[in-house]
Amino acid sequence: MTTTAAQQQEPAEVEERLVTMLNNGALAVMLSIGHRTGLFDALSEHSPQSSAELATTTGLNERYVREWLGAVTTGRIVELDPDSGAYRMRPEVSALLTRRGSANLAVFAQYVSLMGSVEDKIVRCFEEGGGLGYEHFPRFHEVMAEDSAQTVLAALESDIIPLVPGLSDRLSAGIDVLDVGCGRGRALNQLASNHPHSTFTGIDISAEAVDYARTEAEARGLRNVTFAVRDAANLAENMPAGAFDLVTTFDAVHDQAAPDAVLRGIRHVLRDDGVYLAQDIDSSGSHQGDLDHPLGPLLYALSLTHCMTVSLAAAGAGLGTMWGRPLAQQYLRDAGFGTVEVRTLPHDEQNAYYVCRP
Ligand SMILES: C[S@@+](CC[C@H](N)C(=O)[O-])C[C@H]1O[C@@H](n2cnc3c(N)ncnc32)[C@H](O)[C@@H]1O
Repeated sequence: MTTTAAQQQEPAEVEERLVTMLNNGALAVMLSIGHRTGLFDALSEHSPQSSAELATTTGLNERYVREWLGAVTTGRIVELDPDSGAYRMRPEVSALLTRRGSANLAVFAQYVSLMGSVEDKIVRCFEEGGGLGYEHFPRFHEVMAEDSAQTVLAALESDIIPLVPGLSDRLSAGIDVLDVGCGRGRALNQLASNHPHSTFTGIDISAEAVDYARTEAEARGLRNVTFAVRDAANLAENMPAGAFDLVTTFDAVHDQAAPDAVLRGIRHVLRDDGVYLAQDIDSSGSHQGDLDHPLGPLLYALSLTHCMTVSLAAAGAGLGTMWGRPLAQQYLRDAGFGTVEVRTLPHDEQNAYYVCRP
């Protein structure tokens, strides 16, 4: 068997890596807890604090706070002043782990906990096949919305819409837009707010996500956006042809049960001069080609424990998160898109953006 030099490591090196991995895996769960409990935000806002002060600031149980501080201090995320017994976060670290930063990595740490939460059921899938539907992931939509708030929402007008020349002007003038697999609808609500002359429709199979999207639209007083619970695999049957000028999907194709039907449906509802803008996970599509992918293990693992398994649960294609650019392009062409341009954005290295026209 041939392996590349990059794959070959000395046994001592492998052992060291495995030990580091155990520490880092545990720390990822601590990052998730630090985010959810507000501990990172509180510590970053008022540094330094003792464990008792931090517990009071956050209203949390001191014994748990102290043990968490043990993990994140020995993990070199938080610093301890041995003289005063107070803990602090350096500003550079705060920028990466709090809600004040624009790239809060603690948001992504929640996926590690999400993976662990289904381990027993996933082991059963290894033995019996099949998959786990969305109902097994009660926090998924919440975490996903936080994730896409950083990769999509923050860059929507500045980077993503400009991928299509002239689109910003068309949105300002007034066009019809559909977002498929809209989740909690934050991207669409933002577009609707920014472009009052355009009309926006969001569809998702999750009633919980659609309820959230509607509630936010109402709270913001948006009258040009509607959300519906719909199976995107039935677009071609249930929506008129050529109803939209722009269709978007944000990270919402690779985990579909019937991605081919979804893409054909998107082509069907798109006007002939319309554009389909798809953000989806970028990869080579092969294990060998992904060896140097900076997020390879995380994304394959997330695929196995979420994106692939939700598709397989519905007897679907199970493409998986790392389906890869070549296969994505083939699916888009097979769905009837004559031109498919692939673009990438510096703020979002894990995704490719496909600009597709009939
Ligand atoms: C990875 S999430 C992305 C959500 C959202 N676009 C975002 O970026 O936050 C994929 C979404 O596709 C939705 N979805 C999955 N299968 C669907 C289907 N057959 N029809 C409509 N939506 C579906 C899920 O409920 C989920 O909200």
